Amino acid sequence: MTLKKLLALTLAIFMLAAIAACSSASPSASQNEPGDATSPGSGDTVPADDTTPADDPNTAATVRIGVSMPTKDLQRWNQDGDYLKGEFEGAGYEVDLQYANNEAATQVSQIENMISGGCTVLVIAAVDGYALTQALATAKESGITVIAHDRLIMETDAVSYYATFNNTRVGTLQGQFIVNGLDLENAEGPFNIEFFTGDPGDNNINFFYPGAMAELQPYLDNGKLVCLSGQTEQNDVATVDWKAENAQARMENLISSNGYGPTGTKLDAVMCSNDSTAQGVVTALLGAGYTAENMPIVTGQDCDIVSVKNMIAGLQSMSVFKDTRKLATQVKDMVIAHLAGQTVPTNTEYDNDDALDGTDGERMIPSFECELDQGTPDNYVELLIDSGYYEASELE
Ligand code: BGC
Repeated sequence: MTLKKLLALTLAIFMLAAIAACSSASPSASQNEPGDATSPGSGDTVPADDTTPADDPNTAATVRIGVSMPTKDLQRWNQDGDYLKGEFEGAGYEVDLQYANNEAATQVSQIENMISGGCTVLVIAAVDGYALTQALATAKESGITVIAHDRLIMETDAVSYYATFNNTRVGTLQGQFIVNGLDLENAEGPFNIEFFTGDPGDNNINFFYPGAMAELQPYLDNGKLVCLSGQTEQNDVATVDWKAENAQARMENLISSNGYGPTGTKLDAVMCSNDSTAQGVVTALLGAGYTAENMPIVTGQDCDIVSVKNMIAGLQSMSVFKDTRKLATQVKDMVIAHLAGQTVPTNTEYDNDDALDGTDGERMIPSFECELDQGTPDNYVELLIDSGYYEASELE
């Protein structure tokens, strides 16, 4: 053995002893502070550009990340969970991934378990953005870093960062699609329209719905668009749990109470905030006798496989595409930078303090909005298949 190799071996033994000392310590507040020696890439262990925390023997084994997703029911969250797990494990972290079955209480107890189980970072897509205040107070006391994933968590000072898409733009694209599809600038109308948004506990609808309405309200005001049900307020058009069945049931009601149908009262557009609501609406419309030939314009969001197939079959008109791979990578980059005490990449901020608890203050959370696109029957091949998001066979 050369002297150089001997020195390297001695150094390696010394470092292993140091890791053992670090990892035997129970998780504590200081473990999560930026710059702490046990954080990935912190202090003198900042990974070089071509390394990941996994390459750093001082850190990888000590960081456990809790990933709390709302439900397995929707394709969207299965993908987010898988991508986040893949990103974090690829970077050398341990991951505790849980799905909360769309129940706020289940999510709270899963988060409590993550805290007691030694997670030092929590990445959470909330079932109910207003139900985590208490659980996250405990997380904060334990020095845990909380990242809100896709949906902002409200009424808590425990959220460090938020990663999402431009949620207002989601609604803008949906509204503009209807404006252009019906040529509202030039056509006389009137055109009949109904509206569907998502769960009232999801802060995102406070951006999706106003975003769409900003485009459509002028035409409701000038009479070119008519909503026969009169249900245009966000609360009236909400869909509990974003469930397709709930949207379907409400659409069936709207059909019977307003006489919508291919041979009845004309229905020209249904503004749906996402794909699960769009799928429920389409099922109800098919049940009322609509076909691809006379289907109203139906908007959506997520480019779920079912909805893309519906688009290809002429049953849904568009879907906003949010590449959840980009979101997962972004969240991982934010975690790495934060734990390394480096500047966390953000490009905007969101206020997570609102009037629901009686005081409408302002608490701006540093945030990152990923880019999004519009999916249609015309561009889905390039957008979804050529980009590797789906295999062509998945859409057959
Ligand atoms: C997400 C959408 C999703 C919806 C229902 C929203 O918070 O941003 O992508 O369709 O929840 O799960």
